[in-house]
Amino acid sequence: MIFDTHAHYDDEAFDEDRDEVLTSLREWGVGTVVNVGASMEGSRRSVSLSEQYEFVYSAVGVHPDEVGELREEDMEWMREQLQKPKVVAVGEIGLDYYWDKEGHDLQKKWFLRQLELAKELKKPVIIHSREAAADTMELLKANYHGEMPMVMHCYSYSMEMAREYRKMGLYLGIGGVLTFKNAKKLKEVVENIPLTSIVLETDCPYMAPEPNRGKRNNSAYIRYVAEKIAELKGITYEEVVEQTEKNAREMYRL
Ligand code: NI
Repeated sequence: MIFDTHAHYDDEAFDEDRDEVLTSLREWGVGTVVNVGASMEGSRRSVSLSEQYEFVYSAVGVHPDEVGELREEDMEWMREQLQKPKVVAVGEIGLDYYWDKEGHDLQKKWFLRQLELAKELKKPVIIHSREAAADTMELLKANYHGEMPMVMHCYSYSMEMAREYRKMGLYLGIGGVLTFKNAKKLKEVVENIPLTSIVLETDCPYMAPEPNRGKRNNSAYIRYVAEKIAELKGITYEEVVEQTEKNAREMYRL
């Protein structure tokens, strides 16, 4: 069944019908969801969603746009949460020089700090990196020891970079962008990277694939992404779903 490795059902976009959306996912072939924290509040809500729904797991972490709120005691809270069996990863953490909401030094500081926590606890890591390819690579190379599986969420860089990440054993998170007309570079990456390195994600409520581009996204729409991967690779939809689920389980150790 479809494994959505990256969702934000804690987002207020789901306030009206969260339970309805989540409980209907099985009908659409979605078997597992990892709800990913982006702020401290979002991380708290992620944990509670994973306590509420059997098929939902959570990740705790703070997105580069939100690191201004972080304090050392928040690391303690994360450490405690990460002992819980349904809290499976640290994320999303990283660098975002596109929105550039916080200074680069501060972004790097907390990216590293959260990476260290993952390393200490040997937990998988979900990385957010936008227009920060070189710095992300540099920080990862210096700190990656292969003990924690990692995913480059919403992969947006080049084929060359994808090869580098693959050498380091990272998974690439592929979502709605793949179905966009102008996603030439990403299509090239998906065509050339083995399916064993790909995991599926929504990043919902954002990034809805065609034909729902611009609407609120949810894990049921992942099938359009899986269909596109199947088409690009000349394999069946079922193969894509099966292999990416296997990859996701390996990555999150489920
Ligand atoms: Ni996200």
